[in-house]
Amino acid sequence: MKITTKNEKSLILNILKKLGLSDEYAEIVAEATLDSDLKGFTSHGIGRFPQYIHGIEKGKININHEIEIVKETEAIALINGKHTFGQVVAYKAMMLAIEKAKKIGIAAVGTHEANHFGVTGYYSDLAIRNDVIGIVMANTEPAIAPLGAKTALIGTNPIAIGIPSNETYIAVDMATSVTARGKLMEAKRKGEPIPENMALDKDGNPTTDPSEALEGSILPFGGYKGYALAFMIELLTGPLVNAAFGSGVHGTANHTQLCTKGDLFIVIDPSKFVGMDKFKGETEEFIKEVRGSGDTIIPGDLEVESIQKNYKEGLKVDEKLYNNLKEICDNLDINIDEYISQ
Ligand SMILES: NC(=O)c1ccc[n+]([C@@H]2O[C@H](COP(=O)([O-])OP(=O)(O)OC[C@H]3O[C@@H](n4cnc5c(N)ncnc54)[C@H](O)[C@@H]3O)[C@@H](O)[C@H]2O)c1
Repeated sequence: MKITTKNEKSLILNILKKLGLSDEYAEIVAEATLDSDLKGFTSHGIGRFPQYIHGIEKGKININHEIEIVKETEAIALINGKHTFGQVVAYKAMMLAIEKAKKIGIAAVGTHEANHFGVTGYYSDLAIRNDVIGIVMANTEPAIAPLGAKTALIGTNPIAIGIPSNETYIAVDMATSVTARGKLMEAKRKGEPIPENMALDKDGNPTTDPSEALEGSILPFGGYKGYALAFMIELLTGPLVNAAFGSGVHGTANHTQLCTKGDLFIVIDPSKFVGMDKFKGETEEFIKEVRGSGDTIIPGDLEVESIQKNYKEGLKVDEKLYNNLKEICDNLDINIDEYISQ
């Protein structure tokens, strides 16, 4: 089964508006969700809707609450997301960081009482579109066990960096665990095993069973370096921004719990450093050098390829996802078959 980009967006908007989201919030959530699926990060796209809806039903996601800026200087802001959709909180936090950085060169905005925001790179892309550098990170409920321990205490703590360029999409968007937890949830939904060397069960033994892995832990990427980076992101998106950390983080994957995670959005304006022309010119020079060095790709190429392919061919919908979406649609009096083709 397939769904076109246009239909996925209208289906999401229809679902969200029937749930009572304002036009503004629905548009933000729809764009961020579509971005995940187009880039091939289907673990964070429309497949997450059953959990989001569960979160709304359980009163853990407040659909139309306004965010509150609780602290602000020229360079920083601290936002209480009031438990509204994570995509909305993240969008507003990033746009504020961009506005500030454009004035003074650099800015950082932190959030707490937010919710799961989907793909991290959607928000660094907002910076790129505004000709500034975006760095985004977040913590999540525990998934990585500290090296040498069995119990997960650190999130999958994603980081995304986007660099503005007139020629090329330059971005990296990754979990600091070997893989995003969403990919384990997706494998579980599809009844598929996960690759070896990705996760441990709750007793610390290697496993390829996504259910066992979800009860155990996911390995950090790159051994101790990934562990150290995930550890640092935990502090930058927990204690720094008035959010929870370690075992206190809940509600990013399990939406029956109130979400206690935090996010950090850092924006740098290259025009205030060396000037935009020099920065972009030298960036392109480096990209040419890298591309000329062998059969290689640069960070962001895979996303561009995936967007082009999915836009043209439509997005795949597996049977379990179809059934999940059908249940949501039936409850909201939406005919799913008007959107998805067999
Ligand atoms: N919201 C959350 O709480 C949360 C938590 C964890 C992950 N996520 C999201 O999950 C998604 C998947 O994360 P992941 O770590 O599994 O991603 P991944 O391993 O599929 O890809 C990571 C990045 O590496 C780049 N890349 C891959 N191969 C490359 C190569 N050969 N050369 C250069 N660059 C290359 C990709 O372009 C991508 O930007 C991301 O969008 C992430 O933001 C979200």
